[in-house]
Amino acid sequence: MCLNTRIERLILNNFRNHKYLNLDINKNMVLIYGQNGSGKTSVLESISLINSSNGFRASNLGEIVNNDLKGPLEMFGVNILLKESNNLTKVGIGLKKKIDKYQKIMSIDEKKNTNDIINNIPNIYSIIPKMTFIFQGTSEERRNFLDQMIFVIECDHRKDILNYEKYKTERIRILKKWKVQNEEWLDAVEKKMVSYGLIVCDNRRNFLKQLNDNLEIVDKNFPSFKIHLKGELDQLLLKKPAVDVEEIFASTLKKNREKDFLTGRTNYGANKTDINVVEKKSLKEAKTFSTGQQKTILFLMILSFIKYLEKVPCKKTIFLLDDIFSYLDNNFISLVLKKLNELKVQTWMTDVKGDWIFEDKSYKAIIDKINIDDKRFKVN
Ligand SMILES: Nc1ncnc2c1ncn2[C@@H]1O[C@H](COP(=O)(O)OP(=O)(O)OP(=O)(O)O)[C@@H](O)[C@H]1O
Ligand SMILES: [Mg+2]
Repeated sequence: MCLNTRIERLILNNFRNHKYLNLDINKNMVLIYGQNGSGKTSVLESISLINSSNGFRASNLGEIVNNDLKGPLEMFGVNILLKESNNLTKVGIGLKKKIDKYQKIMSIDEKKNTNDIINNIPNIYSIIPKMTFIFQGTSEERRNFLDQMIFVIECDHRKDILNYEKYKTERIRILKKWKVQNEEWLDAVEKKMVSYGLIVCDNRRNFLKQLNDNLEIVDKNFPSFKIHLKGELDQLLLKKPAVDVEEIFASTLKKNREKDFLTGRTNYGANKTDINVVEKKSLKEAKTFSTGQQKTILFLMILSFIKYLEKVPCKKTIFLLDDIFSYLDNNFISLVLKKLNELKVQTWMTDVKGDWIFEDKSYKAIIDKINIDDKRFKVN
């Protein structure tokens, strides 16, 4: 069961095309509708910044500041009022500029304490149009898709990945600066990489087991699929005890120093995890299915994830569903919304018209329907 964390108010100042936008919300389901280019995706993007350094569009942060902003950067900002039980928390998101680079800054109840931030903010899980191409996409996209789900279930997964990335970057920096001569320092950094890397892989393996178990029961009318982990390190963990893998991981990093220095990247580790989705009977890979079938496979995975959410003592979560009505089947969407509503997960959706909401009377009472064209403060 999920804690009912929800956004009660969202205020945008100079965020993309929104000079000023103030939304008051009092329901668990929110539909933002309006014409193309009215700024629907931008609203969800602003929420996705809660726990992402540059949002679900992976934007260059300079792009999210309104083009016409003439004043100081302090005039840009996202203010979110969160409600959990009867507690209200104010989240402030802004930007600061370091030379020519922008960086996200965040405050909780006007304090910039990072521990508070990590403990108080909800997980934001987004489903965006790009995901329908996940099986044709890069391994990084598939890895992110998997990690996004784990962040909701396993609080520490985000921290484990950040730590792994930190030491991975540090190792490449040392290799670039001193090649392989700085043995002791490299040994220490690689040791950290190994311990965080193995935790990250463990989280992924444990989560996938659950996702696969739930995938079995999602829809009996559809062929059965299984999700496999594809990375070399992940495969090794399936075959050998963790202590052996730890040794192999450490020695491979050592052996690869020259190669990693020359290529400028880490050629072995938790950063190489990928997933392979296979139909159980024919062993056909998801990417060989038709576009429509691939969307169904994606939907099965998302539904399996939501089914898993039903079982865990759940974390604070908010779902963002951008434009899903234009690319996912209506029956699926109904099923997902029904489940999310039962779980009391606040869910933000976007659509150009949102007519379908009135087709089903049961939605009317539970959805806040916001015409963004009416809400925007227009300067011209
Ligand atoms: N920094 C910026 N300053 C001003 N306008 C911007 C900025 N960045 C993007 N825009 C514009 O903001 C508008 C809103 O974009 P957004 O993607 O949020 O629209 P949307 O309502 O989701 O559209 P669609 O229905 O096509 O998905 C677009 O016209 C875009 O060009
Ligand atoms: Mg959009």
